[in-house]
Amino acid sequence: MEYGRLGNTGLMVSDLCLGCMTFGRETDEAVSKEIVARFLDAGGNFIDTADVYSQGVSEEITGRAIQGVRDDVVLATKVRFPMGDGPNDAGLSRKHITRSCNASLKRLGTDYIDLYQVHCWDAATPLEETLSTLTDLVRAGKVRYVGVSNFTAWQLAKAAGVSELRGFERFVCLQPQYSLVERNIEREILPVCRGEGLGVIPWSPLGGGFLSGKYRRDEKPPEDSRIAGAEEPMEEHWSRRATERNWRVLDAVGALAEATGKSYAQVAFNWLLRQDAVTAPIIGARTMEQLEDNLGATGWELTEEQTRKLSEAGALEETYPYRFIKNAQRI
Ligand SMILES: NC(=O)c1ccc[n+]([C@@H]2O[C@H](COP(=O)([O-])OP(=O)(O)OC[C@H]3O[C@@H](n4cnc5c(N)ncnc54)[C@H](OP(=O)(O)O)[C@@H]3O)[C@@H](O)[C@H]2O)c1
Repeated sequence: MEYGRLGNTGLMVSDLCLGCMTFGRETDEAVSKEIVARFLDAGGNFIDTADVYSQGVSEEITGRAIQGVRDDVVLATKVRFPMGDGPNDAGLSRKHITRSCNASLKRLGTDYIDLYQVHCWDAATPLEETLSTLTDLVRAGKVRYVGVSNFTAWQLAKAAGVSELRGFERFVCLQPQYSLVERNIEREILPVCRGEGLGVIPWSPLGGGFLSGKYRRDEKPPEDSRIAGAEEPMEEHWSRRATERNWRVLDAVGALAEATGKSYAQVAFNWLLRQDAVTAPIIGARTMEQLEDNLGATGWELTEEQTRKLSEAGALEETYPYRFIKNAQRI
């Protein structure tokens, strides 16, 4: 595995991040611990969880899995979604963030979080309240860096501006959904990340497993698979994955898997790693076999030509105003 800086920080992270969303859900504690141990053994140092994953159980398992090597790990978690039924048990208010951070520290069995991420925009809370609270957590030594997930481009740009003006901590990275089958962030969000120096750590890099090659045109999804069980409004719902465009993308991934001798998943991850804004895709593995497959994403490179072919297979349609602005640059 290789290491690079997270956004404009000095923090070095592995080019694969391990996602712990299945821990305590589809993956029991024993297998989860094996997954973490193997990932660390392969050179990974970057691990992502969230308070809401299995309502705290993922954080507890992750904390136990890294006991003894905690300081060598870049540990990321998140806050925003409900952890109870009360009116202040969700969102990005000062009260909820402060209480949630303390609860996450306890569950993770540590006294600091390396990367504390807001899980999604909260329209009900002033951004200044959220940013000042996160800044206080950094000053208190409970958090090292702050990050963000599921923001639009204007929300990211506004946050960068408010932090600059008010002297608050800046978000150092974005965790967006990004894969060969979900590329909408290429229009506006990736340009903001490049412009503001944010690292990019894509979630659902396989589109919830779609790009692993186990789903087939004209066949129902395999019964025990993530996508078979995905209900609306989950992003990996079958109606969003089984589209003509995505089957074309999958055909292109399959052709390159054959040409390179790599698996579908390895090709799909490698395409993400070739995108210049991407720091580290977050690999989600339910089993040890899947982890081994996904670890093979690095240590080799698709050629420029192969990368271009894959990009073209699912390229976004050119729309206004992007088309107009691009053409205007030639004048
Ligand atoms: N910020 C957010 O809003 C957000 C949202 C989602 C995820 N995340 C983070 O991103 C991480 C990864 O997301 P994700 O789990 O959706 O990623 P993903 O890689 O797109 O999907 C992972 C799922 O695909 C299947 N899979 C994975 N590798 C496979 C392989 N080699 N062969 C066959 N099937 C394979 C497994 O599901 P089955 O075997 O059950 O089919 C696995 O649980 C999470 O752990 C979490 O840390 C963040």
